[in-house]
Amino acid sequence: MEGTRHVVLNADSRQTACSPECSIDLVVTSPPYPMIEMWDSLFSQLNSSIRARLSEGNGNGAFELMHRELDRVWANLFVTLRKGGMACIVVGDAVRKVGNDFAMYSNQSRIVSGCLSAGFTLLPGIIWTKETNKPNKFMGSGMLPPSAYPTLEHEHIIVLRKGGSRIFGSQEEKLRRRSSAFFWEERNIWFSDQWTGIKGERQSAGDRSPRGRTASFPFEIAARLVNMFSIQGDNVLDPFLGLGTTSVAAAVCGRNSIGCEVETGLCSLASERFSGNVMARAGHASERLRAHTEYVGECLAAGKVFGHTSHVYSVPVTTSQETDMHLPVPASVRPEGENTYRISYED
Ligand SMILES: C[S@@+](CC[C@H](N)C(=O)[O-])C[C@H]1O[C@@H](n2cnc3c(N)ncnc32)[C@H](O)[C@@H]1O
Repeated sequence: MEGTRHVVLNADSRQTACSPECSIDLVVTSPPYPMIEMWDSLFSQLNSSIRARLSEGNGNGAFELMHRELDRVWANLFVTLRKGGMACIVVGDAVRKVGNDFAMYSNQSRIVSGCLSAGFTLLPGIIWTKETNKPNKFMGSGMLPPSAYPTLEHEHIIVLRKGGSRIFGSQEEKLRRRSSAFFWEERNIWFSDQWTGIKGERQSAGDRSPRGRTASFPFEIAARLVNMFSIQGDNVLDPFLGLGTTSVAAAVCGRNSIGCEVETGLCSLASERFSGNVMARAGHASERLRAHTEYVGECLAAGKVFGHTSHVYSVPVTTSQETDMHLPVPASVRPEGENTYRISYED
């Protein structure tokens, strides 16, 4: 396949990140989560009234002002996306004590309402269930009701679209779409409204970020969403890039990417690590093929008859839609100007 292009911008996505001529096909992102303590100072820099509300013990007031900052990004994304383009927003709700009151702040519902006001159409979302990293979530106090320590928690993946379904009009687009098919058994896991078995990620930004932590999501989350909601050669945007997981997933899956990160240190780190992170994931396609071959072996042993064979890999597949699937394998990453990279792929 043709090479893809990847750009990391040091930009504030509330204002500059998204320009209408970008023609973005898919957004995969995770914003700073309102009312999670690690983001208090970032939001307070954006609007100093937020710090005041928190100090007064006005949790709901602070929550609303933080979301108004994010609303500007959702409005920008709506303009930037092409018609039929999709956006996936990964976000957790927050629990915390402000003043004397312990409460949950539903980021998911507030972001949905911000995105609906921006013009998006809401589609069925996904709950990503994982081991908790916040054992006092329900005011944990041992075994005495009404509080306890939870074992699992979840994040929401909000799925949105700009307008109606995307039209794949040209022959070239139709071919790219067929190349970008996923396996039947992958579909069964990916297009489920509950994801399990994917652990959260903790990456250190060291002294390159004032926060020390990046709150990155796992590669698997970004790669699934990219494969589910875009086709090879599409443009993927992450307006809250962090360490660049979305860009790496886009590159590994044969899509172009643009990422915006407001923090200069983190932006340079994402850019510096990009090539190494892409090449470290170059085995992603062979891992998917290996899992498919294993699945086929189990099915054949159980007596399943496959009606189709992949034209590319000569392995049995369940449906005719999988026969032209061609998984990109990154061969090299070449810098192409400042914070811009070109990936070439194996034939
Ligand atoms: C939850 S983290 C994203 C982590 C990312 N998904 C990853 O895997 O590394 C949110 C990021 O958005 C950045 N950010 C916050 N406000 C921003 C803004 N207005 N424009 C661009 N980036 C912003 C933060 O500095 C932070 O790195």
